[in-house]
Amino acid sequence: MGCPSCSRSLWLSALAVAAALASAAAGAQQLSPGFYDATCPALQATVRRGVARAVRREPRMGASILRLFFHDCFVNVIKPFRGVDRADGCDASVLLDDVPGNFAGEKNAGPNANSLRGYEVIDSIKAQVEASCKSTVSCADILALAARDAVNLVSHSWTVPLGRRDARNTSAGAANANLPPPDASLATLLSTFRGKGLDARDLTALSGAHTVGRARCAVFRSHIYNDTAINASFAAELRASGVCPFTGGDGNLAPLELQAPDAFDNGYFRDLVTRRVLLRSDQALYGGGGNDTTDALVLAYAANATAFAVVFAAAMVRMGSIAPADGSVGEVRLNCRRVN
Ligand code: HEM
Ligand SMILES: *[C@@H]1O[C@H](CO)[C@@H](O)[C@H](O)[C@H]1NC(C)=O
Ligand SMILES: *[C@@H]1O[C@H](CO)[C@@H](O)[C@H](O)[C@H]1NC(C)=O
Ligand SMILES: *[C@@H]1O[C@H](CO)[C@@H](O)[C@H](O)[C@H]1NC(C)=O
Ligand SMILES: *[C@@H]1O[C@H](CO)[C@@H](O)[C@H](O)[C@H]1NC(C)=O
Ligand SMILES: *[C@@H]1O[C@H](CO)[C@@H](O)[C@H](O)[C@H]1NC(C)=O
Repeated sequence: MGCPSCSRSLWLSALAVAAALASAAAGAQQLSPGFYDATCPALQATVRRGVARAVRREPRMGASILRLFFHDCFVNVIKPFRGVDRADGCDASVLLDDVPGNFAGEKNAGPNANSLRGYEVIDSIKAQVEASCKSTVSCADILALAARDAVNLVSHSWTVPLGRRDARNTSAGAANANLPPPDASLATLLSTFRGKGLDARDLTALSGAHTVGRARCAVFRSHIYNDTAINASFAAELRASGVCPFTGGDGNLAPLELQAPDAFDNGYFRDLVTRRVLLRSDQALYGGGGNDTTDALVLAYAANATAFAVVFAAAMVRMGSIAPADGSVGEVRLNCRRVN
Protein backbone atom coordinates (compact mmCIF):
# COMPACT_ATOMS: atom_id res chain seq x y z
CA MET A 1 0.00 0.00 0.00
CA GLY A 2 1.08 3.60 -0.38
CA CYS A 3 4.50 3.68 -1.88
CA PRO A 4 5.90 0.17 -2.11
CA SER A 5 8.60 1.18 -4.57
CA CYS A 6 10.03 3.87 -2.29
CA SER A 7 13.51 2.67 -1.48
CA ARG A 8 15.17 3.99 1.63
CA SER A 9 17.53 6.19 -0.36
CA LEU A 10 14.72 7.75 -2.37
CA TRP A 11 12.84 8.36 0.82
CA LEU A 12 15.87 10.07 2.30
CA SER A 13 16.36 12.19 -0.79
CA ALA A 14 12.72 13.29 -0.46
CA LEU A 15 13.55 14.50 3.02
CA ALA A 16 16.64 16.31 1.80
CA VAL A 17 14.66 18.10 -0.93
CA ALA A 18 11.98 19.01 1.62
CA ALA A 19 14.55 20.37 4.06
CA ALA A 20 16.29 22.45 1.39
CA LEU A 21 12.99 23.94 0.24
CA ALA A 22 12.00 24.56 3.83
CA SER A 23 15.04 26.63 4.59
CA ALA A 24 14.65 28.55 1.33
CA ALA A 25 10.96 29.22 1.97
CA ALA A 26 11.21 29.88 5.67
CA GLY A 27 13.66 32.74 5.23
CA ALA A 28 13.08 35.34 7.86
CA GLN A 29 10.42 33.32 9.66
CA GLN A 30 13.03 30.88 10.91
CA LEU A 31 10.80 27.87 11.28
CA SER A 32 12.95 24.92 12.27
CA PRO A 33 12.32 21.23 12.89
CA GLY A 34 14.00 21.37 16.29
CA PHE A 35 12.00 24.33 17.58
CA TYR A 36 10.48 22.37 20.52
CA ASP A 37 13.30 19.90 21.12
CA ALA A 38 14.22 21.51 24.42
CA THR A 39 10.81 22.80 25.53
CA CYS A 40 8.57 19.89 24.54
CA PRO A 41 10.52 16.76 23.69
CA ALA A 42 7.40 14.55 23.74
CA LEU A 43 5.56 16.68 21.17
CA GLN A 44 6.04 14.62 18.02
CA ALA A 45 5.21 11.32 19.72
CA THR A 46 2.11 12.83 21.33
CA VAL A 47 0.77 14.19 18.04
CA ARG A 48 1.53 10.97 16.24
CA ARG A 49 -0.28 8.88 18.84
CA GLY A 50 -3.31 11.17 18.71
CA VAL A 51 -3.57 11.01 14.93
CA ALA A 52 -3.03 7.24 14.90
CA ARG A 53 -5.84 6.76 17.41
CA ALA A 54 -8.23 8.96 15.44
CA VAL A 55 -7.45 7.22 12.15
CA ARG A 56 -7.88 3.80 13.76
CA ARG A 57 -11.32 4.87 14.92
CA GLU A 58 -12.22 6.27 11.50
CA PRO A 59 -9.93 5.80 8.48
CA ARG A 60 -11.29 8.90 6.72
CA MET A 61 -10.00 11.14 9.53
CA GLY A 62 -6.49 11.19 8.05
CA ALA A 63 -7.90 12.85 4.94
CA SER A 64 -9.96 15.27 6.99
CA ILE A 65 -6.95 16.45 9.01
CA LEU A 66 -4.85 16.87 5.87
CA ARG A 67 -7.54 19.10 4.38
CA LEU A 68 -7.83 21.07 7.61
CA PHE A 69 -4.17 22.03 7.26
CA PHE A 70 -4.62 23.08 3.61
CA HIS A 71 -7.58 25.27 4.56
CA ASP A 72 -5.61 26.81 7.41
CA CYS A 73 -2.55 27.64 5.31
CA PHE A 74 -4.37 29.06 2.29
CA VAL A 75 -6.29 31.71 4.18
CA ASN A 76 -4.21 34.87 4.28
CA VAL A 77 -5.79 37.86 5.93
CA ILE A 78 -2.92 40.29 5.83
CA LYS A 79 -0.83 39.68 2.74
CA PRO A 80 -0.94 37.07 0.03
CA PHE A 81 2.77 36.25 0.20
CA ARG A 82 5.00 34.46 2.61
CA GLY A 83 7.54 36.56 4.40
CA VAL A 84 5.18 38.75 6.38
CA ASP A 85 6.01 39.44 10.00
CA ARG A 86 2.56 38.69 11.37
CA ALA A 87 0.65 35.51 12.05
CA ASP A 88 -1.16 34.56 8.86
CA GLY A 89 -1.29 31.60 6.49
CA CYS A 90 -0.63 28.50 8.60
CA ASP A 91 -1.72 30.15 11.83
CA ALA A 92 -4.53 27.91 13.15
CA SER A 93 -7.03 30.63 12.23
CA VAL A 94 -9.30 27.90 10.84
CA LEU A 95 -9.65 26.41 14.33
CA LEU A 96 -11.25 29.52 15.90
CA ASP A 97 -14.91 29.04 16.81
CA ASP A 98 -17.41 31.67 15.81
CA VAL A 99 -18.63 33.89 18.64
CA PRO A 100 -22.25 34.63 17.76
CA GLY A 101 -22.91 38.34 17.35
CA ASN A 102 -19.23 39.17 17.71
CA PHE A 103 -16.93 37.13 15.50
CA ALA A 104 -17.58 35.17 12.28
CA GLY A 105 -14.52 33.05 11.58
CA GLU A 106 -13.57 30.54 8.90
CA LYS A 107 -15.47 27.50 10.10
CA ASN A 108 -18.78 28.60 8.61
CA ALA A 109 -17.37 30.08 5.41
CA GLY A 110 -18.70 28.56 2.18
CA PRO A 111 -15.93 26.01 1.53
CA ASN A 112 -15.85 24.89 5.18
CA ALA A 113 -19.40 24.78 6.56
CA ASN A 114 -20.75 21.23 6.89
CA SER A 115 -17.59 20.06 5.20
CA LEU A 116 -14.36 20.64 7.10
CA ARG A 117 -13.89 18.19 9.95
CA GLY A 118 -11.38 16.89 12.50
CA TYR A 119 -11.50 19.82 14.93
CA GLU A 120 -12.07 17.58 17.94
CA VAL A 121 -9.04 15.46 17.05
CA ILE A 122 -6.83 18.57 17.18
CA ASP A 123 -8.52 19.62 20.46
CA SER A 124 -7.75 16.29 22.03
CA ILE A 125 -4.10 16.32 20.90
CA LYS A 126 -3.74 19.92 22.10
CA ALA A 127 -5.08 18.94 25.54
CA GLN A 128 -2.49 16.17 25.78
CA VAL A 129 0.31 18.49 24.67
CA GLU A 130 -0.77 21.15 27.20
CA ALA A 131 -0.72 18.55 29.96
CA SER A 132 3.02 18.04 29.56
CA CYS A 133 4.14 21.29 27.89
CA LYS A 134 2.00 24.12 29.20
CA SER A 135 1.50 27.15 26.97
CA THR A 136 4.39 26.15 24.73
CA VAL A 137 3.25 24.63 21.43
CA SER A 138 1.07 26.57 18.98
CA CYS A 139 -2.10 25.04 17.55
CA ALA A 140 -0.68 25.89 14.11
CA ASP A 141 2.32 23.63 14.70
CA ILE A 142 0.17 20.83 16.10
CA LEU A 143 -1.93 20.95 12.93
CA ALA A 144 1.19 20.94 10.71
CA LEU A 145 2.51 17.84 12.49
CA ALA A 146 -0.89 16.14 12.49
CA ALA A 147 -1.26 16.63 8.73
CA ARG A 148 2.15 15.05 8.17
CA ASP A 149 1.30 12.12 10.41
CA ALA A 150 -2.06 11.66 8.70
CA VAL A 151 -0.21 10.98 5.45
CA ASN A 152 2.78 9.27 7.04
CA LEU A 153 0.58 6.63 8.59
CA VAL A 154 -0.14 5.23 5.17
CA SER A 155 2.76 6.49 3.09
CA HIS A 156 6.01 8.45 3.00
CA SER A 157 7.07 11.15 5.42
CA TRP A 158 8.81 14.51 5.70
CA THR A 159 10.31 16.72 8.36
CA VAL A 160 8.06 19.55 9.56
CA PRO A 161 9.67 22.94 10.25
CA LEU A 162 8.14 24.37 13.45
CA GLY A 163 7.77 27.64 15.32
CA ARG A 164 4.48 28.98 13.92
CA ARG A 165 2.41 31.33 16.06
CA ASP A 166 -1.38 31.30 16.36
CA ALA A 167 -3.54 34.04 14.88
CA ARG A 168 -5.60 36.37 17.05
CA ASN A 169 -8.08 37.16 14.33
CA THR A 170 -9.51 35.95 11.04
CA SER A 171 -12.72 36.19 9.05
CA ALA A 172 -15.18 34.11 7.07
CA GLY A 173 -14.63 36.51 4.19
CA ALA A 174 -10.94 35.66 4.06
CA ALA A 175 -11.74 31.96 3.72
CA ASN A 176 -14.30 32.64 0.98
CA ALA A 177 -11.79 34.77 -0.90
CA ASN A 178 -8.76 32.49 -0.58
CA LEU A 179 -9.99 28.92 -1.01
CA PRO A 180 -10.42 27.68 -4.58
CA PRO A 181 -13.92 26.42 -5.53
CA PRO A 182 -14.56 22.92 -6.96
CA ASP A 183 -15.49 24.34 -10.36
CA ALA A 184 -12.26 26.34 -10.65
CA SER A 185 -10.58 26.42 -14.06
CA LEU A 186 -6.91 25.59 -14.44
CA ALA A 187 -6.10 29.28 -14.88
CA THR A 188 -7.81 30.06 -11.57
CA LEU A 189 -6.06 27.20 -9.78
CA LEU A 190 -2.66 28.27 -11.11
CA SER A 191 -3.17 31.89 -10.13
CA THR A 192 -4.56 31.03 -6.68
CA PHE A 193 -1.54 28.86 -5.97
CA ARG A 194 0.86 31.40 -7.47
CA GLY A 195 -0.58 33.94 -5.03
CA LYS A 196 0.71 31.71 -2.22
CA GLY A 197 4.14 31.28 -3.78
CA LEU A 198 3.29 27.81 -5.13
CA ASP A 199 3.83 26.76 -8.75
CA ALA A 200 2.28 24.29 -11.19
CA ARG A 201 4.34 21.45 -9.75
CA ASP A 202 3.11 22.22 -6.23
CA LEU A 203 -0.49 22.54 -7.44
CA THR A 204 -0.41 19.21 -9.27
CA ALA A 205 1.31 17.31 -6.47
CA LEU A 206 -0.81 18.81 -3.67
CA SER A 207 -3.99 18.03 -5.60
CA GLY A 208 -2.86 14.41 -5.27
CA ALA A 209 -4.19 14.70 -1.70
CA HIS A 210 -7.51 13.85 -3.36
CA THR A 211 -6.28 10.27 -3.50
CA VAL A 212 -7.89 10.06 -0.05
CA GLY A 213 -11.13 11.30 1.45
CA ARG A 214 -14.70 11.95 0.42
CA ALA A 215 -16.70 14.64 -1.33
CA ARG A 216 -20.35 15.62 -1.07
CA CYS A 217 -22.73 15.31 -3.99
CA ALA A 218 -23.27 19.09 -3.85
CA VAL A 219 -19.70 19.71 -5.01
CA PHE A 220 -19.52 17.11 -7.81
CA ARG A 221 -23.09 17.13 -9.17
CA SER A 222 -22.42 19.58 -11.99
CA HIS A 223 -19.36 17.60 -13.11
CA ILE A 224 -21.21 14.30 -13.47
CA TYR A 225 -24.40 15.76 -15.00
CA ASN A 226 -23.15 18.66 -17.10
CA ASP A 227 -19.52 18.33 -18.09
CA THR A 228 -18.07 16.78 -21.22
CA ALA A 229 -14.53 16.54 -19.79
CA ILE A 230 -15.44 13.39 -17.88
CA ASN A 231 -15.36 9.69 -18.74
CA ALA A 232 -18.89 9.11 -20.06
CA SER A 233 -19.28 5.62 -18.62
CA PHE A 234 -17.94 6.79 -15.25
CA ALA A 235 -20.42 9.68 -15.17
CA ALA A 236 -23.25 7.34 -16.16
CA GLU A 237 -22.31 4.86 -13.40
CA LEU A 238 -22.29 7.59 -10.78
CA ARG A 239 -25.62 9.00 -11.94
CA ALA A 240 -27.18 5.53 -11.92
CA SER A 241 -25.78 4.63 -8.51
CA GLY A 242 -28.10 7.08 -6.80
CA VAL A 243 -25.27 8.59 -4.74
CA CYS A 244 -25.87 11.97 -6.36
CA PRO A 245 -29.37 12.56 -7.69
CA PHE A 246 -30.02 15.56 -9.93
CA THR A 247 -31.90 17.16 -7.07
CA GLY A 248 -31.50 16.39 -3.38
CA GLY A 249 -28.92 14.26 -1.63
CA ASP A 250 -26.51 17.18 -1.39
CA GLY A 251 -24.72 15.68 1.61
CA ASN A 252 -24.27 12.16 0.15
CA LEU A 253 -20.61 11.15 0.08
CA ALA A 254 -18.49 9.50 -2.59
CA PRO A 255 -14.75 8.74 -2.47
CA LEU A 256 -12.55 11.23 -4.32
CA GLU A 257 -10.49 8.29 -5.58
CA LEU A 258 -12.40 5.09 -6.11
CA GLN A 259 -9.96 2.17 -6.03
CA ALA A 260 -8.38 2.78 -2.62
CA PRO A 261 -9.99 5.83 -0.99
CA ASP A 262 -8.02 5.58 2.25
CA ALA A 263 -4.62 4.70 0.77
CA PHE A 264 -2.19 7.49 0.03
CA ASP A 265 -1.08 6.27 -3.37
CA ASN A 266 -0.93 7.72 -6.89
CA GLY A 267 -4.33 6.33 -7.93
CA TYR A 268 -5.75 9.84 -8.25
CA PHE A 269 -3.39 10.60 -11.14
CA ARG A 270 -4.31 7.41 -12.97
CA ASP A 271 -7.97 8.41 -12.57
CA LEU A 272 -7.22 11.85 -14.02
CA VAL A 273 -5.77 10.20 -17.12
CA THR A 274 -8.92 8.10 -17.64
CA ARG A 275 -11.08 11.10 -16.63
CA ARG A 276 -12.67 9.34 -13.69
CA VAL A 277 -12.54 11.95 -10.92
CA LEU A 278 -15.30 13.75 -9.04
CA LEU A 279 -14.32 17.38 -9.16
CA ARG A 280 -14.21 19.64 -12.20
CA SER A 281 -11.23 21.39 -10.59
CA ASP A 282 -9.38 18.07 -10.47
CA GLN A 283 -10.00 17.19 -14.12
CA ALA A 284 -8.86 20.71 -15.06
CA LEU A 285 -5.30 19.57 -14.32
CA TYR A 286 -5.33 17.06 -17.16
CA GLY A 287 -6.53 16.74 -20.71
CA GLY A 288 -8.24 20.10 -21.06
CA GLY A 289 -5.82 21.21 -23.75
CA GLY A 290 -5.07 24.23 -21.59
CA ASN A 291 -1.67 23.52 -20.19
CA ASP A 292 0.96 21.00 -21.22
CA THR A 293 2.86 21.53 -17.98
CA THR A 294 0.23 20.04 -15.67
CA ASP A 295 -0.64 17.34 -18.25
CA ALA A 296 2.98 16.16 -18.22
CA LEU A 297 3.16 16.21 -14.42
CA VAL A 298 -0.06 14.19 -14.10
CA LEU A 299 1.31 11.55 -16.50
CA ALA A 300 4.60 11.42 -14.59
CA TYR A 301 2.90 10.93 -11.21
CA ALA A 302 0.44 8.40 -12.66
CA ALA A 303 3.38 6.34 -13.92
CA ASN A 304 5.62 6.66 -10.88
CA ALA A 305 4.37 6.58 -7.27
CA THR A 306 7.79 7.53 -5.95
CA ALA A 307 7.99 10.62 -8.12
CA PHE A 308 4.64 11.72 -6.64
CA ALA A 309 5.76 10.93 -3.08
CA VAL A 310 8.93 13.00 -3.42
CA VAL A 311 7.26 16.07 -4.89
CA PHE A 312 4.26 15.87 -2.55
CA ALA A 313 6.52 15.89 0.52
CA ALA A 314 8.40 18.95 -0.72
CA ALA A 315 5.17 20.71 -1.68
CA MET A 316 3.65 20.09 1.77
CA VAL A 317 6.65 21.80 3.37
CA ARG A 318 6.26 24.73 1.00
CA MET A 319 2.52 24.97 1.68
CA GLY A 320 3.29 24.78 5.41
CA SER A 321 5.55 27.82 5.06
CA ILE A 322 2.87 30.15 3.70
CA ALA A 323 3.27 33.32 5.73
CA PRO A 324 3.86 31.86 9.14
CA ALA A 325 5.03 34.16 11.89
CA ASP A 326 7.60 33.66 14.58
CA GLY A 327 8.85 35.53 17.61
CA SER A 328 6.45 37.74 19.48
CA VAL A 329 3.78 38.01 16.77
CA GLY A 330 0.47 36.28 17.45
CA GLU A 331 0.31 33.93 20.41
CA VAL A 332 0.39 30.33 21.61
CA ARG A 333 -3.29 29.63 22.17
CA LEU A 334 -4.26 27.62 25.24
CA ASN A 335 -7.44 26.38 23.60
CA CYS A 336 -7.35 26.05 19.82
CA ARG A 337 -10.96 27.24 19.55
CA ARG A 338 -10.47 30.72 21.01
CA VAL A 339 -7.89 33.44 21.38
CA ASN A 340 -6.28 33.71 24.82
C1 HEM B 1 -6.53 22.62 -5.91
C2 HEM B 1 -7.61 23.12 -5.37
C3 HEM B 1 -8.54 22.32 -4.52
C4 HEM B 1 -9.90 22.31 -4.60
C5 HEM B 1 -10.75 23.11 -5.56
C6 HEM B 1 -10.37 21.39 -3.60
C7 HEM B 1 -11.70 21.11 -3.37
C8 HEM B 1 -12.16 20.12 -2.53
C9 HEM B 1 -13.54 19.79 -2.34
C10 HEM B 1 -14.72 20.49 -3.03
C11 HEM B 1 -13.61 18.75 -1.49
C12 HEM B 1 -14.88 18.05 -0.99
C13 HEM B 1 -15.48 18.87 0.13
C14 HEM B 1 -16.90 18.45 0.45
O1 HEM B 1 -17.49 17.66 -0.24
O2 HEM B 1 -17.43 18.94 1.46
C15 HEM B 1 -12.26 18.42 -1.10
C16 HEM B 1 -11.90 17.41 -0.24
C17 HEM B 1 -10.62 17.16 0.17
N1 HEM B 1 -9.51 17.93 -0.14
FE1 HEM B 1 -9.38 19.36 -1.56
N2 HEM B 1 -9.30 20.84 -2.93
C18 HEM B 1 -8.16 21.39 -3.45
C19 HEM B 1 -6.88 21.16 -3.03
C20 HEM B 1 -6.54 20.36 -1.93
C21 HEM B 1 -5.23 20.31 -1.32
C22 HEM B 1 -4.03 21.17 -1.73
C23 HEM B 1 -5.32 19.40 -0.31
C24 HEM B 1 -4.26 18.96 0.67
C25 HEM B 1 -2.97 19.03 0.45
C26 HEM B 1 -6.67 18.87 -0.32
C27 HEM B 1 -7.13 17.86 0.48
C28 HEM B 1 -8.43 17.37 0.48
C29 HEM B 1 -8.84 16.17 1.18
C30 HEM B 1 -7.91 15.23 1.92
C31 HEM B 1 -10.22 16.05 1.01
C32 HEM B 1 -11.14 14.98 1.63
C33 HEM B 1 -11.50 15.43 3.04
C34 HEM B 1 -12.38 14.48 3.83
O3 HEM B 1 -12.70 13.38 3.38
O4 HEM B 1 -12.78 14.89 4.94
N3 HEM B 1 -7.39 19.50 -1.29
N4 HEM B 1 -11.40 19.29 -1.74
C1 LIG C 1 -10.65 41.34 13.59
O1 LIG C 1 -10.98 41.61 12.23
C2 LIG C 1 -12.13 42.37 12.07
C3 LIG C 1 -12.52 42.44 10.59
O2 LIG C 1 -11.57 41.91 9.76
C4 LIG C 1 -11.88 43.76 12.66
O3 LIG C 1 -13.03 44.54 12.53
C5 LIG C 1 -11.55 43.59 14.13
O4 LIG C 1 -11.22 44.82 14.68
C6 LIG C 1 -10.38 42.64 14.32
N1 LIG C 1 -10.20 42.39 15.73
C7 LIG C 1 -9.00 42.45 16.32
C8 LIG C 1 -8.96 42.12 17.75
O5 LIG C 1 -7.99 42.75 15.70
C1 LIG D 1 -26.46 22.06 -15.87
O1 LIG D 1 -26.42 23.19 -16.75
C2 LIG D 1 -27.68 23.80 -16.95
C3 LIG D 1 -27.52 24.88 -18.02
O2 LIG D 1 -26.42 25.70 -17.72
C4 LIG D 1 -28.17 24.36 -15.62
O3 LIG D 1 -29.44 24.96 -15.76
C5 LIG D 1 -28.28 23.22 -14.62
O4 LIG D 1 -28.64 23.71 -13.36
C6 LIG D 1 -26.97 22.47 -14.51
N1 LIG D 1 -27.17 21.30 -13.68
C7 LIG D 1 -26.29 20.91 -12.78
C8 LIG D 1 -26.61 19.69 -12.00
O5 LIG D 1 -25.25 21.51 -12.59
C1 LIG E 1 -13.17 5.58 -19.43
O1 LIG E 1 -12.99 4.61 -18.43
C2 LIG E 1 -12.76 3.29 -18.92
C3 LIG E 1 -12.72 2.35 -17.75
O2 LIG E 1 -11.67 2.68 -16.92
C4 LIG E 1 -11.46 3.28 -19.74
O3 LIG E 1 -11.24 2.00 -20.27
C5 LIG E 1 -11.55 4.31 -20.84
O4 LIG E 1 -10.34 4.38 -21.53
C6 LIG E 1 -11.90 5.66 -20.29
N1 LIG E 1 -12.13 6.62 -21.35
C7 LIG E 1 -11.33 7.67 -21.54
C8 LIG E 1 -11.74 8.61 -22.62
O5 LIG E 1 -10.33 7.88 -20.88
C1 LIG F 1 1.21 26.37 -18.18
O1 LIG F 1 1.53 26.66 -16.83
C2 LIG F 1 2.90 26.97 -16.63
C3 LIG F 1 3.11 27.13 -15.14
O2 LIG F 1 2.25 28.06 -14.60
C4 LIG F 1 3.26 28.20 -17.43
O3 LIG F 1 4.63 28.49 -17.25
C5 LIG F 1 2.96 27.97 -18.89
O4 LIG F 1 3.19 29.14 -19.61
C6 LIG F 1 1.51 27.53 -19.07
N1 LIG F 1 1.30 27.17 -20.47
C7 LIG F 1 0.19 27.52 -21.12
C8 LIG F 1 0.08 27.08 -22.54
O5 LIG F 1 -0.72 28.16 -20.59
C1 LIG G 1 10.48 7.33 -10.36
O1 LIG G 1 10.75 8.57 -9.73
C2 LIG G 1 11.91 8.55 -8.94
C3 LIG G 1 11.96 9.86 -8.16
O2 LIG G 1 11.87 10.98 -8.99
C4 LIG G 1 13.11 8.34 -9.86
O3 LIG G 1 14.29 8.38 -9.11
C5 LIG G 1 12.95 7.01 -10.56
O4 LIG G 1 14.00 6.84 -11.47
C6 LIG G 1 11.62 6.96 -11.28
N1 LIG G 1 11.40 5.59 -11.77
C7 LIG G 1 11.18 5.35 -13.03
C8 LIG G 1 10.92 3.91 -13.37
O5 LIG G 1 11.17 6.23 -13.88
